[in-house]
Amino acid sequence: MRRDACKNAVRRSLLHWYDRHHRVLPWRVSPGDRARKASRNQKNSCSVNAYHVLVSEAMLQQTQVATVRAYFVRFMEAFPTVEVLAAADEQRVLRLWQGLGYYRRARHLHAAARIIVQQHGGRVPDTVQQLLALPGVGRYSAGAIASIAYQQPVPILDGNVARVLSRLFGIRQPIDATATKNQLWQRAGELVSPTRPGDFNQALMDLGSTLCTPRQPRCADCPLHKLCATRSDELPIKTRRTTPKPVTHTILALRRRGRYLFEQRSPRGLWSNMWQLTTAEQLIDDPVNWIKERFGLSVRAPRTLESFIHHTTHRTIRFELLTVAVQRGSTNGQTQWRTLDDLDDLPLPNPQRKAIKALLATDKEVEPQRRRERGGRQ
Ligand code: ADE
Repeated sequence: MRRDACKNAVRRSLLHWYDRHHRVLPWRVSPGDRARKASRNQKNSCSVNAYHVLVSEAMLQQTQVATVRAYFVRFMEAFPTVEVLAAADEQRVLRLWQGLGYYRRARHLHAAARIIVQQHGGRVPDTVQQLLALPGVGRYSAGAIASIAYQQPVPILDGNVARVLSRLFGIRQPIDATATKNQLWQRAGELVSPTRPGDFNQALMDLGSTLCTPRQPRCADCPLHKLCATRSDELPIKTRRTTPKPVTHTILALRRRGRYLFEQRSPRGLWSNMWQLTTAEQLIDDPVNWIKERFGLSVRAPRTLESFIHHTTHRTIRFELLTVAVQRGSTNGQTQWRTLDDLDDLPLPNPQRKAIKALLATDKEVEPQRRRERGGRQ
């Protein structure tokens, strides 16, 4: 088939499939709704809200659609417009992001909202070039926002789309090599529909997530079956990734009269500005001494509660969780003593939330015993 004819056939088949099988998502306007509203001349209500697309694309980086749905709805209730987000306190933004991980995205989104209000009059920019100047907006997000919100005929390429295109065109070079990525961007640019670029790009995303999956793709149901050079999971080919480095962190849950010590992380690096129980980024052999040196607190012998693994992109972190009863001394600086039912305003990374869950379970077990030891007081 000639390349042009093939291109048109791909567009037609994919858009036809999208009209019937697109996923209904809270940040999307379905093609059917758009057509109905346009025919009733409801101009504004049929257009996509660019702020919704900006927020959803920030959340969807590294995160599955199923997880993002509820976060997106809650975020929009809290920050319904770009102006409200721009005026919000960063700790509140992080709180609403809590659990999604990769918190840099939240900070970038917050900074982007401020720039949009200050420099663009509250309107999300509509060109790839201007979008790329916003913090946290890369080539993929810029393409997604420009095409979905503003119908610009520009491509997108993420892991899902790269897989679809490598199979469709039978690209056998490693998909994560720069030269292959450039080739795929070019192919995506040639292929994007000039009349319905937003729907076309979202159709590629949906196809990659629902049918053209990494393993056991449902080729028999695929709208591109007849046009596809591969029709199996034989592609894409990936070069081997470097394995994450194994490290150990120790959480020393310092407890005094029913409260635990919380500290704020530094403004740089992983989980920056978020809160945590006292945590050392190493294995602590002598916790009593470590706490004495760090805080000047006298503590009883620690009790080991549990250990668990947390994966980040570059590290496999084994967390050792210990509880330590504080006898004497006071802390200063960026620390707070809190009960575990009073943490709603503190943004906490996922492993810290896991540790708190374990503490709550243990507190429930040992509280009656503590009460007996106190001679029934309180
Ligand atoms: N993944 C990234 N962006 C997406 C979108 N707009 N719809 C569905 N999945 C996505």
